[in-house]
Amino acid sequence: MLTQLTDTQQEIVRAARDFAQSELAPLAGERDRESRFDPEVVRQLGELGFLGMMLPEEYDGLGLDTLTYLLALEEIAVADASTAVMMSVHNSLPTQMLLRWGTAAQKEQFLKPMARGELLGAFALSEPEAGSDASALRAQAVRDGDHWVLNGTKAWVTSGSHAGVIVAMARTDTPEQRRGSRGISAFILTPDLPGLRISKKEDKMGLRASPTVQLAFEDLRVPADRLLGEEGQGFTYAMQSLDNGRLGIAAQATGIARAALEYSLAYADERRQFGKAIREFQAIQFKLADMATRIEAARAVLHGAAAAKDRGESTTLSGAMAKLLASETAMWAATQAVQIYGGYGYVTDYPVERLFRDAKVTEIYEGTSEVQRIVIARELYR
Ligand code: CAA
Repeated sequence: MLTQLTDTQQEIVRAARDFAQSELAPLAGERDRESRFDPEVVRQLGELGFLGMMLPEEYDGLGLDTLTYLLALEEIAVADASTAVMMSVHNSLPTQMLLRWGTAAQKEQFLKPMARGELLGAFALSEPEAGSDASALRAQAVRDGDHWVLNGTKAWVTSGSHAGVIVAMARTDTPEQRRGSRGISAFILTPDLPGLRISKKEDKMGLRASPTVQLAFEDLRVPADRLLGEEGQGFTYAMQSLDNGRLGIAAQATGIARAALEYSLAYADERRQFGKAIREFQAIQFKLADMATRIEAARAVLHGAAAAKDRGESTTLSGAMAKLLASETAMWAATQAVQIYGGYGYVTDYPVERLFRDAKVTEIYEGTSEVQRIVIARELYR
């Protein structure tokens, strides 16, 4: 790694790697095959402090900077990308949104249990007909006395079936007077609220141990004090949060790419064809060299973006670049790994086919590669 780490960062990396390799890696394949979410993993992440990495200590967080958080996330992703996405969404989106825009009472109620892993966080922006065009969302919130009443459907909600807190975006403008992206507000939902239902569990290509669901709001009654921040600001909050969420996905993708490289290095050393280890062949050496180089480049851009965030600068541009580069590196590196393994890369006896399936979604969620390019191109003209 090109980045020079502090003593604390090295310590966190060691702790994350030990946990990931001893607790996550041995069962990652089995959980994937069985599409099994394991609450014990969330408990362990909470115990290690990995669900409150950037939260201040007053909320039982570790109070660490963004780079340290991303370093830990990469280690988790090397072992198990399903766990990494849950950790990324939780740390980057709902906890940070509550910290930034929550009232003192909201922070007091939710942040400590979130940091300890007692409440897993989720983020609900997309809808079946509003993906890349996120501000076209239609879920409607109508004020009724000291409550809001929500109706609509949210899609692609990571951890939605097991979340204790969901930050969800819904329209608070009226059908008669639409205000576009300024007519959207953020709400803090909990599974006990009447009218909140899991309407579909997705059967995914990859990240199968991380549940992804659709949520139905059926006259969902939300107390007025669960509005997060200012009415009408929900879309801006979501976009600002995704700027940082994309750093987490970039770290996850970097971890998947690194796993592809590490498995390939080991396999190329042990696999013999034509009388020698296949790593003796230049065709394989060039793949390994390109994988290592591209991973280092993706990580360097990501760490630059993390440093920018910690200096208080916008990460709209650097976050989109980091996510684009890392996710395309992950998909490319996983493809090379399958090729190096040959037929063995195509079957479930070996882990690289899982990496191939897991890598794909990093080019899709938290903004597709095409959306990242739109964001980058727009920023170039600012
Ligand atoms: N920071 C702050 N404000 C922002 C912003 C940002 N990064 N991006 C946009 N805004 C603001 C704009 O300033 C504008 O505000 P004003 O009206 O006050 O001027 C408003 O938001 C609307 O902005 P745009 O006109 O740029 O919006 P748009 O409709 O053209 O959309 C987009 C832009 C970049 C395509 C955006 O819709 C987008 O990012 N789409 C992808 C959505 C996405 O990433 N979804 C992921 C969901 S989460 C997930 O994947 C699941 C999971 O759990 C892992």
